[in-house]
Amino acid sequence: MSSTHAGTAEATGTAQSAGDDVVFSVRNLWKVFGPKAEKIPGNAEYADLSVEELRARTGCTAAVRDVSFDVRKGEVFVVMGLSGSGKSTLVRCLTRLIEPTSGSLAIDGEDVLAMDKGRLRELRRHRAAMVFQHFGLLPHRTVLDNVAYGLEIQGMGKSERRAKAAEVVAKVGLQGLENRRPGQLSGGQQQRVGLARALAVDPEVLLFDEPFSALDPLIRRDMQEEVCRLHDEEGRTMVFITHDLSEALRIGDRIALMRDGRVVQMGTPEEIVGSPADDYVRDFVRDVPREQVMTARTAMRPPVGDEAEQGASVAPGVTVSEAIEAVVRTGGVVRVVDNGRCLGVVDHQGLLAVVAGLGADFPAATGATGTSAGAGVPRPDAATGTTGEVIPA
Ligand SMILES: Nc1ncnc2c1ncn2[C@@H]1O[C@H](COP(=O)(O)OP(=O)(O)OP(=O)(O)O)[C@@H](O)[C@H]1O
Ligand SMILES: [Mg+2]
Repeated sequence: MSSTHAGTAEATGTAQSAGDDVVFSVRNLWKVFGPKAEKIPGNAEYADLSVEELRARTGCTAAVRDVSFDVRKGEVFVVMGLSGSGKSTLVRCLTRLIEPTSGSLAIDGEDVLAMDKGRLRELRRHRAAMVFQHFGLLPHRTVLDNVAYGLEIQGMGKSERRAKAAEVVAKVGLQGLENRRPGQLSGGQQQRVGLARALAVDPEVLLFDEPFSALDPLIRRDMQEEVCRLHDEEGRTMVFITHDLSEALRIGDRIALMRDGRVVQMGTPEEIVGSPADDYVRDFVRDVPREQVMTARTAMRPPVGDEAEQGASVAPGVTVSEAIEAVVRTGGVVRVVDNGRCLGVVDHQGLLAVVAGLGADFPAATGATGTSAGAGVPRPDAATGTTGEVIPA
């Protein structure tokens, strides 16, 4: 997880009001495949049926069931779930590549369901670009022309679009390969072309449907870092589908976890790992290395005596793993400081409790104690001789 991601620990999965910072706003969205599909949404008779029971009773598959969420500007919103849980259907509904059965859907406050063909085309070409798992490249075109393809469709002139494409090719690290054809590239390189093609049109949102699942683990890691970099440097809004939990935790600001067409939990990686909504989610996140997801904010307790006054400090968004390092280095209690304010302290016991999954029982001290003069300023720690440096989130 990048530093920027760690800094969003205060984000919650529950915001339901469409404000200025909302790109996609989705409310009570349903997609039902099958005969008389429109009779299923909101029908109490079918509400509690499993996907299989519903299919047996009606012949319909409810791929997306009553899903609501907002995608905020600049966030990486991950949709995660097992195969068949409805991820692709949901994301395709966002630009109406699949027509929703019912519900409402807006981009920047504009009703997507009311868009005519021209407006929809504009949405898909300029505002929300899709990156697919199998790249979807044109085999007989060069890398450069593949990347320029979206611009060509937009009607941009040849020299202008090639110049723009060359810029984006360089941005995703493909310099020197401009004149190759897709068949002459590795899987990872092909996916970079797919990413560059989506980026070339400078879309407001990038939609990724399991873009890296065909890549081997090292290249996959590279591409995940590429996504985090794009997010950190350009603040691009992204909706990212994956069935891989570690990928979701690494790149997501917020995650919507889907099961049988429903969102069973939505929240930050820390919320999902730290407070699973039900046994299904708990089982899903059981093997996650908690110290890499949970933060000092969760592990801290109120300071006792003069603990708030001195010693090393960390930012509230650092991982428990980083906080452990700070505690080991200083040999004692480390303050959790935000903008010069001491929020609490972390020690061996609190950090181990989080690693052991006992975090919820441990007394947290969100915003507990007041300020202390000079808090957050590096000081020498008399006991250990180390400097009380601040580890930024
Ligand atoms: N055109 C269709 N007609 C009927 N059922 C469909 C159609 N498309 C998808 N489904 C069903 O909807 C459900 C959700 O499918 P979807 O492709 O959205 O799942 P997914 O989470 O993307 O899975 P995967 O991880 O395998 O890609 C599945 O049960 C699938 O069989
Ligand atoms: Mg899919």
